[in-house]
Amino acid sequence: MESLKAAHGTIELPAFFPDGTFGVVRSIDSVDLESTGTPGVVMNCYHLMQKPGTSTIKSLGGLHGFTNWSKPILTDSGGFQVFSLIKENPKYGEIRNNGIIFRPSMEEQKVILTPEKCIQAQLGFGSDIMMCLDYCIHPDSPYETNKLSVDMTVRWAAACKKEYDLILKQKAGNLPKRPLLFGIIQGGNDKALRKECSEALIDIGFDGFGFGGWPMDGNGNLLEDILAYTASLVPDSLPKYAMGVGKPDEIVQCVKMGYNLFDCVIPTREARHHRLMAFRGDELEDIDLNQKGFYKYIYIMDEKYIRDEKPISDICDCYSCKNYSRAFLRHLFKTGDSLAYRLASIHNLRFYSSLMELIRMKNKINWQGK
Ligand code: GUN
Ligand code: ZN
Repeated sequence: MESLKAAHGTIELPAFFPDGTFGVVRSIDSVDLESTGTPGVVMNCYHLMQKPGTSTIKSLGGLHGFTNWSKPILTDSGGFQVFSLIKENPKYGEIRNNGIIFRPSMEEQKVILTPEKCIQAQLGFGSDIMMCLDYCIHPDSPYETNKLSVDMTVRWAAACKKEYDLILKQKAGNLPKRPLLFGIIQGGNDKALRKECSEALIDIGFDGFGFGGWPMDGNGNLLEDILAYTASLVPDSLPKYAMGVGKPDEIVQCVKMGYNLFDCVIPTREARHHRLMAFRGDELEDIDLNQKGFYKYIYIMDEKYIRDEKPISDICDCYSCKNYSRAFLRHLFKTGDSLAYRLASIHNLRFYSSLMELIRMKNKINWQGK
């Protein structure tokens, strides 16, 4: 697939969307974000339902109006986030056939997340790509838990699709462009369960599919085998979203398997920890993405940058590299000024959008994969 048509624009594939869980990519605004060449953002349905709430966002023009971001927005359902919260605090969560009941803390109201609510909220937000509510589990869970997760994920996906069709029918003619709805394939490391889940979801019918669960093992290594197998279960005519992937070399690996949509906190999280990413080489055109060491980290707090007048990267055209030196950025971090976060995040996000541009170029010229 070369591109994906969304309500707020066509997304050139493969694409990387940074995380803006609460409607903002941390430390930067929508104008900064646009300047980095970022094609879209991932936001979180569950968190936004909590704060500032579905009806508030709806009344403010949906997520696009509220956040002043005019390009595509993908909203994750919140299944993954709620499961992480329940894992930390098992007493507060309960899974039922019709959804998840969850109390974020003793002080807070309990939340009921059903497939129907999840779809209503994402439609109310005006999201471009909506994700079904899914049942996430820990990667090391026993077979029974894994099977339950697949059964529940399929059950909830069917309910999501039903609600989606119902609301869209009611709105017929009033939506400029239909939002896309993606299913999420669970099944952990079990190939038979991945197959069962993908076949059931493909049967229901979705606009694209996400690889659900955790794409890494306990040592932080990419689960290549199950990722590649799961990608092979989805027709190439549909987008394949590697949720939570990843590091630059992992994205390249996953593109070779057929994935073409990615999101991850890495660029912005690394930026806040003084870790800046840069291609190795003097010309962008010469970077060989098949070479594992195609990029490096610049640890800007290193003493060697105290008087370094160069930009973070000589071959980066981002706002930060065009205007500021390594020495100044280091100084901003040293003195704890929040501008450091902004400049570092802009740079790392431009690195990611350049990476995806390079991948798309390679795709056209000599990419071995699909
Ligand atoms: N992000 C990373 N993995 C997952 C997952 O399994 N489900 C959802 N909803 N989001 C994710
Ligand atoms: Zn830069």
